[in-house]
Amino acid sequence: MSRSERKWDHIRYALDNRKHHASAFDDIKFIHQGLPNIGVFDVGLDHEIGGLYLSSPIFINAMTGGGGEKTYRINKELAIVAKNTGLTMAVGSQMAALKDKTQKYTYEIVRKENPKGVIIANLGSEASPDDAKAAIEMVEANALQIHLNVIQELTMPEGDRNFSGALKRIESIVKELTVPVIVKEVGFGMAKETVHSLSSIGVKVVDVGGSGGTNFAEIENKRREKSLSFFNQWGIPTGVSILEATSVSNHLSIIGSGGFMSAHDIAKGIAIGADAVGMAGYFLKILVKDGIETLQKEIEILHEELKMIMTALGTKTVSDLKNAPLIISGETYHWLNQRGIDTKQFAQRTNK
Ligand code: FNR
Repeated sequence: MSRSERKWDHIRYALDNRKHHASAFDDIKFIHQGLPNIGVFDVGLDHEIGGLYLSSPIFINAMTGGGGEKTYRINKELAIVAKNTGLTMAVGSQMAALKDKTQKYTYEIVRKENPKGVIIANLGSEASPDDAKAAIEMVEANALQIHLNVIQELTMPEGDRNFSGALKRIESIVKELTVPVIVKEVGFGMAKETVHSLSSIGVKVVDVGGSGGTNFAEIENKRREKSLSFFNQWGIPTGVSILEATSVSNHLSIIGSGGFMSAHDIAKGIAIGADAVGMAGYFLKILVKDGIETLQKEIEILHEELKMIMTALGTKTVSDLKNAPLIISGETYHWLNQRGIDTKQFAQRTNK
């Protein structure tokens, strides 16, 4: 199967991929504040992350490009939505265009449609510093994502089998680039050990890409004759992974992604440590099923609802929301307890 056909397979199967894991966000509850002492108009959603200034903490996470006309169209439409809503947007892995120059146009359209927006380039951990520079140049990117997708590759019939040297390669990219480098997972989460290793080589922004949303084990298993079904339940739930990452260092910026579909979960993700929240599968489904205008409306609603929640909590900024008191219970509490991550700090802090 060609790389182009595989790109389209991913989109087709992602559209069918349903969320069915219990979400760690159900274990997180905000503590109601009866005297928030602010109004909705006091709330601002802009936030700085790893040197990037974002007008919203929500962004369109990496999805596509490199699969000919169909992926060109999706990237063009996502770029229009990003421009009209002010959202940052990441493109899908650009390795396809580095290997086959005729695919470059499927990514370049994102910058053409949105000349002033914040755009993030994307490559896998097999990339060299020269690949990274070429990917950034292709879309005049403001930052680069490097994705870690071991479980996806192992499940993919034609996937990689050797993951040696990834940390060293990422280190050389971080050293050579002048734009921020974001290392991301694609739906299996990051443990604190992984985040610690990344931090030790100079990575300043991680996107935990936890489980609970688009499931690339399920997607790749559909493309296999003999399913590796044990990988379908693999991974660290997004909420847990944000908390694992938060426990590593105050100097890291953390992005939460994997299964976000509501303003309430976005607010919880930020409150437990995320500086921004990436959404992929949910936005793709709305775009493909209902079109650009419906997706734009949905993003406006998410922004309005997020402001309502922040008002209720008395938090005027994303930084204030990161200090809102909350309770962590259930399986998430037990996980964190076993991992030596203190949960009381979240319940006893104050944003006043
Ligand atoms: C993705 N994702 C992805 N990530 C990446 O770093 N490079 C890529 O090329 C792709 N390709 C891709 C294609 C499609 C169709 C989807 C739906 C997703 C992963 C994505 O950025 C994100 O990490 C996961 O999808 C989890 O987030 P959601 O979908 O649960 O919001």
